[in-house]
Amino acid sequence: MNYLGGPVLGIETSCDETSIAIVNGRNVLSNIVSSQTELHKTWGGIVPEAAARKHIESVIPCLSVALCQASLSLNEILGIGVTNRPGLVGALSIGVTAAKAISMSLDIPMIGIHHLEAHILSPQMAADIPYPHLCLLVSGGHTEQILVKRPGQYQRLGGTIDDAAGEAFDKCARTLGLGYPGGPAIQNAAKSGDPKRYSLPRGLKDHTFDFSFAGLKTATMQLVERESDKLDLNDAAACVEEAITSVLSDRAVYASREFNCSAITLAGGVAANSSLRKKLETECARRSFPFFAAPLELCTDNAAMIAHIAAWRLSLGEFDTFDMDVFGRSNLPQEKIT
Ligand code: KG4
Ligand code: ZN
Repeated sequence: MNYLGGPVLGIETSCDETSIAIVNGRNVLSNIVSSQTELHKTWGGIVPEAAARKHIESVIPCLSVALCQASLSLNEILGIGVTNRPGLVGALSIGVTAAKAISMSLDIPMIGIHHLEAHILSPQMAADIPYPHLCLLVSGGHTEQILVKRPGQYQRLGGTIDDAAGEAFDKCARTLGLGYPGGPAIQNAAKSGDPKRYSLPRGLKDHTFDFSFAGLKTATMQLVERESDKLDLNDAAACVEEAITSVLSDRAVYASREFNCSAITLAGGVAANSSLRKKLETECARRSFPFFAAPLELCTDNAAMIAHIAAWRLSLGEFDTFDMDVFGRSNLPQEKIT
């Protein structure tokens, strides 16, 4: 990938993290993430209006810290990338409005970035990855198997037919009373648990590129009811983690083989899960197959991955105008092949 030669600003406000970053190509100069987790914990999930209001408070302070950490002043920025799709519409609007204001005042180009494309190409910020490769994108809202033919050219091979993997972690954690967000809570509790103690469903039969996690959520509720006081929380957490990560790992390997991929990449919030990283690493090493996980700090939502895509797309001469809108839902961008 080629990049704009100089500092590019990234703005991410699609969900519950306000993040501002500055990159130079794939070099991250600063990546400030202000998480709203504490706020939303009160409700046990994300409240869209509260998220938007918190972004209003945080966006300029995050920008000041990002500039300070990168030792840059605002007028040294060459371009801006902002997440404009998909996400919570009210939350996205805050980032996009900030991007438009900065772009207009500095007279520099601005481009709207697809949040999932930023996740998909985030492993490339740390390594040169061959094409075509299979990206397993696992987050709170998405669980997708994407064939990355080259940057900008993606084919969806499969994904969840109900809950996303992160959603499954979050819902099962809530059922087990482990709190929010569920992924890190389950990973933590699972450390001292026995992943074979309870039997939990894997969803769908083998030889598919899809996933289903709704049955796991129900089975976890039944487990809690059945075992009542006898339930060992650490063992239950380990079993939930095993059920989610084993099926993700197995089906990513299956898809990569069926489509003759040159590597597997792992991205999105759930990619921070150490058991999932280890499983894919071990499985790929056993087959002498290249595997690249996004660096931990780039797994959960962050603006560095947004600035990274902007630095690339702006270098191709792409940009957006001030009538750019935000979108709650959106398909991945498809590049015209020249
Ligand atoms: O990518 P992300 O930050 O936001 C979305 O775009 O959805 O992903 C958030 C999701 C949450 O569901 C959270 O529970 C999960 O990622 N997550 C984890 C871990 N850290 C975050 N899941 C499993 N293990 C983790 N260590
Ligand atoms: Zn995300």
